[in-house]
Amino acid sequence: MSRPSYARPGMGGDSVVVCRDLRRRFGDRVGVDGVGFEIARGETYGLLGPNGAGKTTTISMLCGLLAPDEGEVIVAGRPITPSSTDAKRAIGLVPQDIALYPDLTARENLRFFGRLQGLGKARLAARMGEVLELVGLADRADDRVEHYSGGMKRRCNIAAGLLHEPELLVLDEPTVGVDPQSRNAILESIEELGRSGLSVLYTTHYMEEAERLCDRVGILDEGRLVAEGTRRELIAHVGHQAGLRVSGTGDLHALAAEFPGAVVRDGAVDLLVDDTGRRLAEVVGAAERVHVVITGIDTSEPDLEAVFLHLTGKALRD
Ligand SMILES: Nc1ncnc2c1ncn2[C@@H]1O[C@H](COP(=O)(O)OP(=O)(O)O)[C@@H](O)[C@H]1O
Ligand SMILES: [Mg+2]
Repeated sequence: MSRPSYARPGMGGDSVVVCRDLRRRFGDRVGVDGVGFEIARGETYGLLGPNGAGKTTTISMLCGLLAPDEGEVIVAGRPITPSSTDAKRAIGLVPQDIALYPDLTARENLRFFGRLQGLGKARLAARMGEVLELVGLADRADDRVEHYSGGMKRRCNIAAGLLHEPELLVLDEPTVGVDPQSRNAILESIEELGRSGLSVLYTTHYMEEAERLCDRVGILDEGRLVAEGTRRELIAHVGHQAGLRVSGTGDLHALAAEFPGAVVRDGAVDLLVDDTGRRLAEVVGAAERVHVVITGIDTSEPDLEAVFLHLTGKALRD
């Protein structure tokens, strides 16, 4: 089967998304506090941030589901507001919550969504085949969705978002709560869509996903974009620092408390250091004081997790 092509030659190198100074409060709680970014055509752009950072609120405004208090969104050259039905057709949204009918098959669900989007019969039949193939559900398309795993439901949701051939695919944390096999299938589908020239906006709190999928990443924290760039540009923020991972037995939290920004994760203490030699001696000394027996020390190149820690003083994951 031939793969659908999303490349749109002739549109030039213009931006598919421009959003400026988006702000949204919920009562006295700040959801998004001045977010602006652009996505080039064909680019996969990631919004990376912990739970509550404002990813879903940003996406909801970008897709015209939520009116911003301030700011503007332009997608494929047209302003997006909750009442702009036409402009919204340029967007395929894959929401965080599953939006499928459980007692229908995948094919029946897609037919339903395709008709809602006004696709003709022949076009719909062709597109259904293409998108089911792309998300790896072609051989399970006639099973009822209620018998699907969480990951298969997500993949079906992605297929629904792609049916009408949007210019921009927006995915809100599509791998949360998904089995590893489906997670990999989802990531592979998105990589393939990216390669085919589709523009993608991807939100996640998993830095590995942002590193793997995204051409550029915006780091979101407490409603603000604290940094933006390619992986390499972002890592330049942490300068010549290296990651130090100290494994050991005993009270690792007590050891972490000795070093600002250090976190305990997966049975080890992670910290960023500028001078590895000097810090190693300090870590060994501190471990002795708090009665931690060190079983291993690894150093690593900084990653997006380290960038987040450096910029916010917090761990991306708890
Ligand atoms: N409908 C809402 N009512 C009240 N607060 C909200 C609502 N939606 C989001 N928020 C708040 O706005 C902030 C950002 O939320 P959200 O955009 O869902 O973050 P993320 O998707 O990054 O986890 C959080 O503090 C959240 O509690
Ligand atoms: Mg969210």
